[in-house]
Amino acid sequence: MSKTKSAFFCQNCGFESTKWVGKCPSCSQWNTFVEEVIVKGNDKFLKDDWKEFNGVSKLKTVSINDVSSAEEKRIITTDAELNRVLGGGIVLGSIVLVAGEPGIGKSTLFLQNGLKLQDIITLYVSGEESEQQIKMRADRVGVSSDNFYLLTETNTQTIFSEIRKLKPQLVIIDSIQTLQSPFVESSPGSISQIRETAAELQRFAKETNTPVFLIGHITKDGNIAGPKILEHMVDTVLQFEGDRHYAYRILRTLKNRFGSTSELGIYEMTGEGMRPVSNPSEILITQKEDQLSGIAIAATIEGMRPLLIETQALVTQSVYGTPQRTVSGFDLRRLQLLLAVLEKRGGFHFGVKDVFINIAGGIKVEDPSLDLAIVCALLSSYEDAAIPQLTCFAGEVGLSGEIRAVNRIEQRIAEAEKLGFEKIIVSKYNAKSLVNLKFDIEVVALGKVEEMYQYLF
Ligand code: TYD
Ligand code: MG
Repeated sequence: MSKTKSAFFCQNCGFESTKWVGKCPSCSQWNTFVEEVIVKGNDKFLKDDWKEFNGVSKLKTVSINDVSSAEEKRIITTDAELNRVLGGGIVLGSIVLVAGEPGIGKSTLFLQNGLKLQDIITLYVSGEESEQQIKMRADRVGVSSDNFYLLTETNTQTIFSEIRKLKPQLVIIDSIQTLQSPFVESSPGSISQIRETAAELQRFAKETNTPVFLIGHITKDGNIAGPKILEHMVDTVLQFEGDRHYAYRILRTLKNRFGSTSELGIYEMTGEGMRPVSNPSEILITQKEDQLSGIAIAATIEGMRPLLIETQALVTQSVYGTPQRTVSGFDLRRLQLLLAVLEKRGGFHFGVKDVFINIAGGIKVEDPSLDLAIVCALLSSYEDAAIPQLTCFAGEVGLSGEIRAVNRIEQRIAEAEKLGFEKIIVSKYNAKSLVNLKFDIEVVALGKVEEMYQYLF
């Protein structure tokens, strides 16, 4: 019997120390060390021996010339959005971490995708919910499959013994924070447990060529609960995000060893599970009859996808001493900057106004090309004059009020054209690259915010 031992772990980066230290020598964070009980020196560590599994046997050393450079084999799911964020399907033997806040729909999305893979033996391991609960959710999603198996278990060794019996081709773990390895004594969710259980699963995935999805929770400040190590250990990190009060969700690739990291999938939470959204722009723009002031459409690019988004602004006389600035879906400091530019360069008195900004659909966009639409929405509300309906904007606004060029302008214009817009306002610095291209949509190139004001109002 090995005796109980404990060690201290940095809760930020997972650094291990035999004694408590105030500042982590690895990531320089203060007060992050917590004691965790571990059992070490257990040399019976032949825990996962996958040599006999599926007839896969691996030599230790190979010459690089003997490694075949064939494309990775992938499982193509029925969900085009998921395929896209994974870089074209699930790579065999890959380990994918899916992180998101509680209640965002992680369990629903992966349950539904597992069920839809009718030809693939899928094992769904849940440490959070009972079989009945999962069954109820599966009924809601309305897909049934003969190749889908459930296991409500948290002990990794029990899970592995079930895996040996079932020989699944895809394993989904919901969630990594509930798993417990018998080789480490601390409680589930602690750094040493997460590190150990993820390592065991990683060995399983690599040695048997079985893809594994790890569902993980996110802490309040948006980090993946558990050490950064977890992100290093996996091949792909997907983040599932969105405002819980809205139906739209974004699945974003943060890291991908088998594809691009600028991919993005969009879903809508419905009564029957997650619905992939293939034409996001059409939903994000509200169809309205009459022209309203304070609304401008931005032609943005998220990841690799063009996305037309409605921005709304409300500018009202301030009744309190300090004017208010309230944003939803947009960066507050960016708004303050744009207001300062309008105040200084355009002589608009936003200093005595309350300003509210809302991005329709609750989707957070980081594309700087949103600036121009925000500025137009602000001016439109300020003047109480509507912007012509079939006009959209793509441009970044600089500190001196200049409209700056944005990337992938052709793609933005093409998307606006596809959605039936008649006019797009872009930076004149973008116009140079467009001279040889023909569009049905009218492209207006402007250099300064003042010019745009003259042009619109
Ligand atoms: P869930 O997948 O449990 O989220 P997570 O695993 O990320 O914590 O989804 C939780 C929410 O989704 C819950 O509030 C109910 C809602 N929901 C729907 O709106 N429609 C559905 O078809 C399902 C299954 C869930
Ligand atoms: Mg869940």
